[in-house]
Amino acid sequence: MKHGFLHSNIEERDGRLFFAGADTVGLAEKYGTPLMLLDEDRIRARCRMYRRAAEKYFGEGSKPLYASKALSFRGIYRIMAEEGMSADIVSPGELYTAASAGFPMENAYFHGNNKSDADVEYAVKNGIGYFVVDSVEELSAVDRIAGEAGIRQRILLRITPGIDPHTHEKINTGRVDSKFGFAIETGAAERITGEALSKKNVELCGFHCHIGSQIFDAAPFMLAAELMIRFIADIKEKTGYEAEILNLGGGFGVRYVEDDPKADIEAMIEASANTVKRACRECGVRMPRILLEPGRSIVADAGMTLYTVGTVKEIPGFRNYVSVDGGMTDNPRYTLYGARYTMAVANRADAEADFECTVCGRCCESGDLLGERIMLPRPERGDLLAVFVTGAYNYSMASNYNRVCRPPVVMIRDGKDTLAVRRESFSDMTACDI
Ligand code: LLP
Repeated sequence: MKHGFLHSNIEERDGRLFFAGADTVGLAEKYGTPLMLLDEDRIRARCRMYRRAAEKYFGEGSKPLYASKALSFRGIYRIMAEEGMSADIVSPGELYTAASAGFPMENAYFHGNNKSDADVEYAVKNGIGYFVVDSVEELSAVDRIAGEAGIRQRILLRITPGIDPHTHEKINTGRVDSKFGFAIETGAAERITGEALSKKNVELCGFHCHIGSQIFDAAPFMLAAELMIRFIADIKEKTGYEAEILNLGGGFGVRYVEDDPKADIEAMIEASANTVKRACRECGVRMPRILLEPGRSIVADAGMTLYTVGTVKEIPGFRNYVSVDGGMTDNPRYTLYGARYTMAVANRADAEADFECTVCGRCCESGDLLGERIMLPRPERGDLLAVFVTGAYNYSMASNYNRVCRPPVVMIRDGKDTLAVRRESFSDMTACDI
Protein backbone atom coordinates (compact mmCIF):
# COMPACT_ATOMS: atom_id res chain seq x y z
CA MET A 1 0.00 0.00 0.00
CA LYS A 2 1.29 3.42 -0.90
CA HIS A 3 1.12 6.25 1.56
CA GLY A 4 -1.51 8.91 0.85
CA PHE A 5 0.37 12.05 0.05
CA LEU A 6 -2.19 14.64 1.14
CA HIS A 7 -1.07 17.55 -1.07
CA SER A 8 -0.17 17.82 -4.74
CA ASN A 9 3.39 19.03 -4.03
CA ILE A 10 4.25 15.67 -2.39
CA GLU A 11 4.85 12.64 -4.58
CA GLU A 12 6.76 9.39 -4.75
CA ARG A 13 9.23 8.63 -7.55
CA ASP A 14 11.07 5.29 -7.60
CA GLY A 15 10.57 4.82 -3.88
CA ARG A 16 11.77 8.30 -2.93
CA LEU A 17 9.70 11.15 -1.66
CA PHE A 18 9.73 14.28 -3.79
CA PHE A 19 8.62 17.65 -2.47
CA ALA A 20 7.95 20.61 -4.74
CA GLY A 21 9.61 18.64 -7.53
CA ALA A 22 12.83 18.07 -5.54
CA ASP A 23 14.26 14.81 -4.21
CA THR A 24 14.06 14.94 -0.41
CA VAL A 25 16.75 12.28 0.00
CA GLY A 26 19.21 14.34 -2.04
CA LEU A 27 18.32 17.50 -0.10
CA ALA A 28 18.86 15.76 3.23
CA GLU A 29 22.29 14.59 2.05
CA LYS A 30 23.18 18.09 0.89
CA TYR A 31 21.96 20.10 3.90
CA GLY A 32 21.78 17.54 6.72
CA THR A 33 18.85 17.01 9.08
CA PRO A 34 16.70 18.23 10.70
CA LEU A 35 15.84 20.26 7.64
CA MET A 36 12.91 22.49 6.87
CA LEU A 37 11.88 22.68 3.23
CA LEU A 38 9.66 25.36 1.74
CA ASP A 39 7.82 25.21 -1.56
CA GLU A 40 8.27 28.79 -2.73
CA ASP A 41 6.07 28.33 -5.80
CA ARG A 42 3.19 27.29 -3.57
CA ILE A 43 3.67 30.26 -1.24
CA ARG A 44 3.63 32.64 -4.20
CA ALA A 45 0.59 30.92 -5.71
CA ARG A 46 -1.31 31.32 -2.41
CA CYS A 47 -0.45 35.02 -2.23
CA ARG A 48 -1.77 35.49 -5.76
CA MET A 49 -4.94 33.57 -4.99
CA TYR A 50 -5.61 35.76 -1.94
CA ARG A 51 -4.87 38.99 -3.81
CA ARG A 52 -7.11 38.01 -6.72
CA ALA A 53 -9.94 36.82 -4.49
CA ALA A 54 -9.82 39.89 -2.22
CA GLU A 55 -10.21 42.23 -5.19
CA LYS A 56 -12.67 40.08 -7.07
CA TYR A 57 -15.09 39.54 -4.22
CA PHE A 58 -14.58 42.56 -1.97
CA GLY A 59 -13.65 45.09 -4.63
CA GLU A 60 -10.79 47.46 -5.33
CA GLY A 61 -8.57 48.41 -2.41
CA SER A 62 -9.32 45.16 -0.57
CA LYS A 63 -6.24 43.05 0.02
CA PRO A 64 -4.57 40.29 2.03
CA LEU A 65 -1.97 40.77 4.76
CA TYR A 66 0.40 37.91 5.46
CA ALA A 67 0.25 37.11 9.20
CA SER A 68 3.97 36.68 9.56
CA LYS A 69 3.83 35.06 13.02
CA ALA A 70 3.19 31.85 11.03
CA LEU A 71 6.70 31.93 9.58
CA SER A 72 9.09 34.81 9.93
CA PHE A 73 12.56 35.24 8.45
CA ARG A 74 13.97 37.74 6.00
CA GLY A 75 13.36 35.72 2.83
CA ILE A 76 9.65 35.36 3.48
CA TYR A 77 9.22 39.15 3.76
CA ARG A 78 11.09 39.57 0.46
CA ILE A 79 8.65 37.16 -1.19
CA MET A 80 5.71 39.01 0.36
CA ALA A 81 7.02 42.35 -0.90
CA GLU A 82 7.50 40.91 -4.40
CA GLU A 83 3.99 39.46 -4.37
CA GLY A 84 2.49 42.81 -3.34
CA MET A 85 1.33 41.47 0.02
CA SER A 86 0.93 43.60 3.12
CA ALA A 87 2.03 42.09 6.43
CA ASP A 88 0.80 41.63 9.97
CA ILE A 89 3.68 41.94 12.39
CA VAL A 90 3.24 41.40 16.08
CA SER A 91 6.51 42.37 17.75
CA PRO A 92 9.47 44.67 17.23
CA GLY A 93 11.44 41.54 16.31
CA GLU A 94 9.13 40.77 13.40
CA LEU A 95 9.19 44.46 12.49
CA TYR A 96 12.99 44.47 12.48
CA THR A 97 13.15 41.28 10.40
CA ALA A 98 10.71 42.71 7.84
CA ALA A 99 12.37 46.13 7.70
CA SER A 100 15.84 44.64 7.36
CA ALA A 101 14.59 42.55 4.43
CA GLY A 102 13.42 45.74 2.71
CA PHE A 103 9.73 45.13 3.30
CA PRO A 104 7.87 48.43 2.79
CA MET A 105 6.82 49.51 6.26
CA GLU A 106 3.81 51.48 5.03
CA ASN A 107 2.26 48.08 4.23
CA ALA A 108 2.86 46.70 7.73
CA TYR A 109 0.22 46.47 10.45
CA PHE A 110 1.46 46.30 14.02
CA HIS A 111 -0.59 43.90 16.17
CA GLY A 112 -0.27 42.80 19.78
CA ASN A 113 -2.01 43.23 23.09
CA ASN A 114 0.93 44.72 24.96
CA LYS A 115 3.05 47.15 23.03
CA SER A 116 5.46 49.03 25.26
CA ASP A 117 6.28 52.71 24.74
CA ALA A 118 9.61 51.58 23.31
CA ASP A 119 7.78 49.31 20.83
CA VAL A 120 5.51 52.16 19.79
CA GLU A 121 8.47 54.53 19.34
CA TYR A 122 10.35 51.94 17.32
CA ALA A 123 7.40 51.34 15.00
CA VAL A 124 6.71 55.07 14.55
CA LYS A 125 10.38 55.70 13.82
CA ASN A 126 10.30 52.95 11.19
CA GLY A 127 7.24 54.45 9.52
CA ILE A 128 4.82 51.62 10.28
CA GLY A 129 1.65 51.82 8.18
CA TYR A 130 -0.92 51.07 10.86
CA PHE A 131 -1.15 50.18 14.51
CA VAL A 132 -3.89 47.73 15.35
CA VAL A 133 -4.61 49.25 18.73
CA ASP A 134 -5.49 46.70 21.37
CA SER A 135 -5.68 48.62 24.64
CA VAL A 136 -6.57 51.99 26.15
CA GLU A 137 -2.94 52.45 27.23
CA GLU A 138 -1.69 51.78 23.71
CA LEU A 139 -4.05 54.37 22.24
CA SER A 140 -2.64 57.03 24.57
CA ALA A 141 0.93 55.97 23.89
CA VAL A 142 0.47 56.04 20.11
CA ASP A 143 -1.21 59.46 20.29
CA ARG A 144 1.58 60.90 22.46
CA ILE A 145 4.49 59.37 20.55
CA ALA A 146 3.01 60.25 17.14
CA GLY A 147 2.58 63.83 18.43
CA GLU A 148 6.22 63.95 19.51
CA ALA A 149 7.25 62.68 16.08
CA GLY A 150 5.08 65.31 14.42
CA ILE A 151 2.93 62.80 12.54
CA ARG A 152 -0.67 61.64 12.51
CA GLN A 153 -0.55 57.86 12.96
CA ARG A 154 -3.05 55.66 11.19
CA ILE A 155 -4.71 53.06 13.37
CA LEU A 156 -7.32 50.31 13.37
CA LEU A 157 -9.00 49.19 16.58
CA ARG A 158 -9.08 45.51 17.48
CA ILE A 159 -12.67 44.53 18.19
CA THR A 160 -13.93 41.29 19.72
CA PRO A 161 -17.15 40.33 17.98
CA GLY A 162 -17.75 37.41 20.38
CA ILE A 163 -17.85 34.38 18.12
CA ASP A 164 -16.81 30.81 18.68
CA PRO A 165 -15.49 29.76 15.26
CA HIS A 166 -15.88 26.08 16.06
CA THR A 167 -19.50 26.08 17.16
CA HIS A 168 -20.31 28.88 14.74
CA GLU A 169 -22.19 30.74 17.43
CA LYS A 170 -22.13 34.11 18.90
CA ILE A 171 -21.01 33.65 22.47
CA ASN A 172 -22.47 36.16 24.82
CA THR A 173 -19.92 35.82 27.53
CA GLY A 174 -17.19 33.36 26.54
CA ARG A 175 -15.26 35.32 23.97
CA VAL A 176 -15.40 38.53 25.96
CA ASP A 177 -12.94 36.76 28.21
CA SER A 178 -9.89 37.36 26.01
CA LYS A 179 -6.68 39.27 26.36
CA PHE A 180 -7.29 40.64 22.87
CA GLY A 181 -9.50 43.43 21.71
CA PHE A 182 -12.45 45.52 22.80
CA ALA A 183 -15.72 43.63 23.11
CA ILE A 184 -18.78 44.98 21.34
CA GLU A 185 -21.24 43.66 23.89
CA THR A 186 -19.64 45.26 26.96
CA GLY A 187 -19.58 48.67 25.31
CA ALA A 188 -15.78 48.73 25.38
CA ALA A 189 -15.60 48.82 21.57
CA GLU A 190 -17.84 51.87 21.37
CA ARG A 191 -15.97 53.68 24.16
CA ILE A 192 -12.52 53.17 22.61
CA THR A 193 -13.87 54.32 19.24
CA GLY A 194 -15.04 57.58 20.81
CA GLU A 195 -11.71 58.00 22.48
CA ALA A 196 -9.76 57.29 19.28
CA LEU A 197 -11.85 59.87 17.41
CA SER A 198 -10.99 62.47 20.03
CA LYS A 199 -7.19 61.98 19.74
CA LYS A 200 -5.35 64.63 17.78
CA ASN A 201 -2.42 62.57 16.55
CA VAL A 202 -4.15 59.40 15.45
CA GLU A 203 -6.29 58.83 12.42
CA LEU A 204 -8.85 56.11 12.98
CA CYS A 205 -9.10 54.19 9.70
CA GLY A 206 -11.35 51.35 10.78
CA PHE A 207 -11.64 48.13 12.70
CA HIS A 208 -10.08 44.72 12.98
CA CYS A 209 -11.31 41.36 14.24
CA HIS A 210 -9.82 37.88 14.25
CA ILE A 211 -12.06 35.04 15.32
CA GLY A 212 -9.66 32.08 15.47
CA SER A 213 -7.56 29.64 13.52
CA GLN A 214 -8.00 26.39 11.53
CA ILE A 215 -11.53 27.31 10.36
CA PHE A 216 -12.90 25.27 7.46
CA ASP A 217 -16.38 26.68 7.25
CA ALA A 218 -17.57 30.03 5.87
CA ALA A 219 -20.27 30.42 8.54
CA PRO A 220 -18.15 31.93 11.36
CA PHE A 221 -16.50 34.36 8.94
CA MET A 222 -19.95 35.40 7.69
CA LEU A 223 -21.19 35.90 11.22
CA ALA A 224 -18.13 37.98 12.12
CA ALA A 225 -18.57 40.09 8.98
CA GLU A 226 -22.21 40.67 9.79
CA LEU A 227 -21.54 41.71 13.39
CA MET A 228 -18.69 44.00 12.37
CA ILE A 229 -20.79 45.78 9.72
CA ARG A 230 -23.59 46.20 12.26
CA PHE A 231 -21.04 47.65 14.68
CA ILE A 232 -19.78 50.05 11.99
CA ALA A 233 -23.36 51.12 11.31
CA ASP A 234 -24.03 51.63 15.00
CA ILE A 235 -20.92 53.81 15.35
CA LYS A 236 -21.91 55.78 12.27
CA GLU A 237 -25.32 56.47 13.74
CA LYS A 238 -23.94 57.51 17.12
CA THR A 239 -20.88 59.50 16.05
CA GLY A 240 -21.11 60.14 12.31
CA TYR A 241 -17.82 58.27 11.83
CA GLU A 242 -17.88 55.73 8.99
CA ALA A 243 -15.04 53.19 8.88
CA GLU A 244 -12.98 53.05 5.72
CA ILE A 245 -11.28 49.72 6.50
CA LEU A 246 -12.50 46.46 7.98
CA ASN A 247 -9.90 43.78 8.63
CA LEU A 248 -11.58 40.39 9.00
CA GLY A 249 -8.48 38.58 10.28
CA GLY A 250 -7.08 35.20 9.31
CA GLY A 251 -7.83 31.64 10.32
CA PHE A 252 -8.48 29.80 7.06
CA GLY A 253 -8.06 26.06 7.62
CA VAL A 254 -5.29 23.80 6.35
CA ARG A 255 -5.31 20.04 5.80
CA TYR A 256 -2.75 18.30 8.02
CA VAL A 257 -4.15 14.76 7.95
CA GLU A 258 -6.40 12.76 5.61
CA ASP A 259 -9.51 13.32 7.69
CA ASP A 260 -9.17 17.10 7.76
CA PRO A 261 -11.50 18.65 5.21
CA LYS A 262 -10.16 20.41 2.13
CA ALA A 263 -10.83 24.08 2.75
CA ASP A 264 -12.26 26.00 -0.20
CA ILE A 265 -10.75 29.35 0.72
CA GLU A 266 -12.07 31.21 -2.31
CA ALA A 267 -15.58 30.03 -1.52
CA MET A 268 -15.20 31.24 2.09
CA ILE A 269 -14.02 34.63 0.83
CA GLU A 270 -16.90 34.84 -1.63
CA ALA A 271 -19.43 33.95 1.06
CA SER A 272 -18.02 36.55 3.47
CA ALA A 273 -18.09 39.15 0.69
CA ASN A 274 -21.75 38.45 -0.01
CA THR A 275 -22.50 38.91 3.69
CA VAL A 276 -20.54 42.18 3.85
CA LYS A 277 -22.31 43.57 0.78
CA ARG A 278 -25.76 42.60 2.01
CA ALA A 279 -25.13 43.88 5.54
CA CYS A 280 -23.81 47.19 4.18
CA ARG A 281 -26.93 47.60 2.05
CA GLU A 282 -29.22 46.74 4.93
CA CYS A 283 -27.44 49.02 7.39
CA GLY A 284 -26.91 51.91 5.00
CA VAL A 285 -23.13 52.07 5.31
CA ARG A 286 -20.64 52.26 2.48
CA MET A 287 -18.67 49.11 1.69
CA PRO A 288 -15.35 49.33 3.57
CA ARG A 289 -12.09 48.17 2.06
CA ILE A 290 -11.67 44.64 3.38
CA LEU A 291 -8.38 43.24 4.64
CA LEU A 292 -7.78 39.53 5.19
CA GLU A 293 -4.97 38.29 7.40
CA PRO A 294 -4.06 34.70 6.57
CA GLY A 295 -0.90 33.15 7.98
CA ARG A 296 -1.16 29.37 8.20
CA SER A 297 -2.95 28.87 4.88
CA ILE A 298 -0.18 30.71 2.99
CA VAL A 299 2.76 28.70 4.30
CA ALA A 300 1.63 25.51 6.07
CA ASP A 301 1.37 23.04 3.20
CA ALA A 302 4.36 24.74 1.57
CA GLY A 303 6.50 23.23 4.33
CA MET A 304 7.99 19.84 5.05
CA THR A 305 10.48 18.81 7.75
CA LEU A 306 13.02 16.03 7.27
CA TYR A 307 14.59 14.15 10.19
CA THR A 308 16.96 11.24 10.52
CA VAL A 309 15.70 8.27 12.48
CA GLY A 310 18.01 7.33 15.36
CA THR A 311 16.57 4.71 17.67
CA VAL A 312 13.56 2.44 17.38
CA LYS A 313 12.36 1.06 20.69
CA GLU A 314 9.66 -1.61 20.68
CA ILE A 315 7.90 -2.22 23.99
CA PRO A 316 5.76 -5.34 23.49
CA GLY A 317 2.24 -4.82 24.74
CA PHE A 318 2.72 -1.07 24.90
CA ARG A 319 4.03 0.83 21.95
CA ASN A 320 6.89 1.50 19.59
CA TYR A 321 8.97 4.63 19.89
CA VAL A 322 10.77 6.06 16.87
CA SER A 323 13.24 8.79 17.81
CA VAL A 324 14.36 11.50 15.41
CA ASP A 325 17.06 14.15 15.53
CA GLY A 326 14.66 17.07 16.12
CA GLY A 327 11.31 17.28 17.90
CA MET A 328 9.57 19.83 20.09
CA THR A 329 12.44 22.26 19.55
CA ASP A 330 11.59 22.67 15.86
CA ASN A 331 7.91 21.66 16.06
CA PRO A 332 6.24 22.12 19.45
CA ARG A 333 2.70 21.78 18.08
CA TYR A 334 2.00 18.19 19.15
CA THR A 335 3.39 18.86 22.60
CA LEU A 336 1.41 22.08 22.94
CA TYR A 337 -1.85 21.34 21.16
CA GLY A 338 -1.89 17.64 20.29
CA ALA A 339 -1.74 18.82 16.67
CA ARG A 340 -1.75 15.91 14.23
CA TYR A 341 0.61 15.43 11.29
CA THR A 342 1.07 13.08 8.37
CA MET A 343 4.47 11.41 8.07
CA ALA A 344 6.36 9.11 5.71
CA VAL A 345 9.73 7.40 5.42
CA ALA A 346 11.18 9.49 2.60
CA ASN A 347 13.80 7.01 1.36
CA ARG A 348 11.23 4.17 1.19
CA ALA A 349 8.16 6.12 0.20
CA ASP A 350 6.59 3.18 -1.62
CA ALA A 351 6.89 0.72 1.30
CA GLU A 352 3.84 -0.45 3.18
CA ALA A 353 3.02 1.63 6.26
CA ASP A 354 2.22 -1.26 8.62
CA PHE A 355 4.11 -0.26 11.77
CA GLU A 356 2.27 1.82 14.35
CA CYS A 357 4.50 4.08 16.40
CA THR A 358 4.98 7.16 18.50
CA VAL A 359 7.40 9.54 16.87
CA CYS A 360 9.46 11.38 19.44
CA GLY A 361 12.12 14.01 19.55
CA ARG A 362 15.54 14.11 21.16
CA CYS A 363 14.80 16.31 24.16
CA CYS A 364 15.11 15.15 27.72
CA GLU A 365 11.38 15.32 28.23
CA SER A 366 8.75 12.55 27.87
CA GLY A 367 6.28 14.95 26.28
CA ASP A 368 8.66 15.67 23.41
CA LEU A 369 6.54 13.93 20.78
CA LEU A 370 5.78 14.70 17.16
CA GLY A 371 2.87 12.30 16.92
CA GLU A 372 1.22 9.16 18.25
CA ARG A 373 -0.47 6.28 16.42
CA ILE A 374 1.54 7.11 13.30
CA MET A 375 1.63 4.41 10.62
CA LEU A 376 5.01 3.99 8.88
CA PRO A 377 7.02 1.25 7.24
CA ARG A 378 9.10 0.01 10.20
CA PRO A 379 11.84 2.66 10.35
CA GLU A 380 15.51 1.78 10.74
CA ARG A 381 18.36 3.86 12.07
CA GLY A 382 19.45 6.20 9.28
CA ASP A 383 16.06 6.35 7.56
CA LEU A 384 14.73 9.75 6.60
CA LEU A 385 11.45 10.71 8.22
CA ALA A 386 9.35 13.38 6.50
CA VAL A 387 6.70 15.32 8.40
CA PHE A 388 4.25 17.06 6.08
CA VAL A 389 2.61 20.48 6.32
CA THR A 390 5.10 22.04 8.73
CA GLY A 391 5.41 25.47 7.10
CA ALA A 392 3.30 27.33 9.67
CA TYR A 393 4.03 27.79 13.37
CA ASN A 394 6.97 25.38 13.37
CA TYR A 395 10.11 27.36 12.56
CA SER A 396 8.50 30.48 14.04
CA MET A 397 7.83 28.65 17.31
CA ALA A 398 11.16 26.82 17.45
CA SER A 399 13.29 27.01 20.58
CA ASN A 400 16.75 26.12 21.84
CA TYR A 401 15.49 23.88 24.64
CA ASN A 402 18.26 21.48 25.66
CA ARG A 403 20.53 23.73 23.57
CA VAL A 404 19.33 22.10 20.39
CA CYS A 405 20.17 24.20 17.31
CA ARG A 406 17.39 25.40 15.04
CA PRO A 407 17.26 23.75 11.60
CA PRO A 408 18.06 25.51 8.35
CA VAL A 409 15.31 26.58 5.94
CA VAL A 410 15.71 25.68 2.27
CA MET A 411 13.46 27.19 -0.38
CA ILE A 412 12.54 25.25 -3.49
CA ARG A 413 11.56 27.16 -6.60
CA ASP A 414 11.10 25.51 -10.00
CA GLY A 415 12.58 22.36 -8.47
CA LYS A 416 15.80 24.21 -7.45
CA ASP A 417 16.88 24.59 -3.84
CA THR A 418 18.44 27.61 -2.13
CA LEU A 419 19.37 28.09 1.47
CA ALA A 420 17.18 30.79 3.06
CA VAL A 421 18.18 30.39 6.71
CA ARG A 422 21.38 28.61 7.60
CA ARG A 423 21.57 26.00 10.35
CA GLU A 424 22.11 27.53 13.76
CA SER A 425 25.52 26.79 15.23
CA PHE A 426 26.68 26.31 18.82
CA SER A 427 28.36 29.68 18.66
CA ASP A 428 25.09 31.31 17.47
CA MET A 429 23.45 29.82 20.53
CA THR A 430 26.06 31.11 22.94
CA ALA A 431 26.38 34.50 21.21
CA CYS A 432 24.44 36.30 23.95
CA ASP A 433 26.01 34.46 26.87
CA ILE A 434 28.48 36.66 28.73
N1 LLP B 1 -4.41 37.75 12.62
C1 LLP B 1 -4.34 37.72 13.95
C2 LLP B 1 -4.67 38.90 14.72
C3 LLP B 1 -3.94 36.53 14.59
O1 LLP B 1 -3.89 36.50 15.92
C4 LLP B 1 -3.59 35.39 13.82
C5 LLP B 1 -3.15 34.17 14.47
C6 LLP B 1 -3.68 35.50 12.43
C7 LLP B 1 -4.09 36.69 11.85
C8 LLP B 1 -3.33 34.35 11.51
O2 LLP B 1 -4.14 33.25 11.71
P1 LLP B 1 -3.97 31.96 10.73
O3 LLP B 1 -4.43 32.37 9.34
O4 LLP B 1 -2.54 31.63 10.72
O5 LLP B 1 -4.82 30.93 11.35
N2 LLP B 1 0.47 28.82 17.20
C9 LLP B 1 -0.86 28.35 16.84
C10 LLP B 1 -1.61 29.37 16.01
C11 LLP B 1 -1.74 30.69 16.70
C12 LLP B 1 -2.46 31.70 15.85
C13 LLP B 1 -2.36 33.05 16.45
N3 LLP B 1 -2.96 34.08 15.70
C14 LLP B 1 -0.73 27.04 16.09
O6 LLP B 1 0.40 26.55 15.94
O7 LLP B 1 -1.71 26.46 15.68
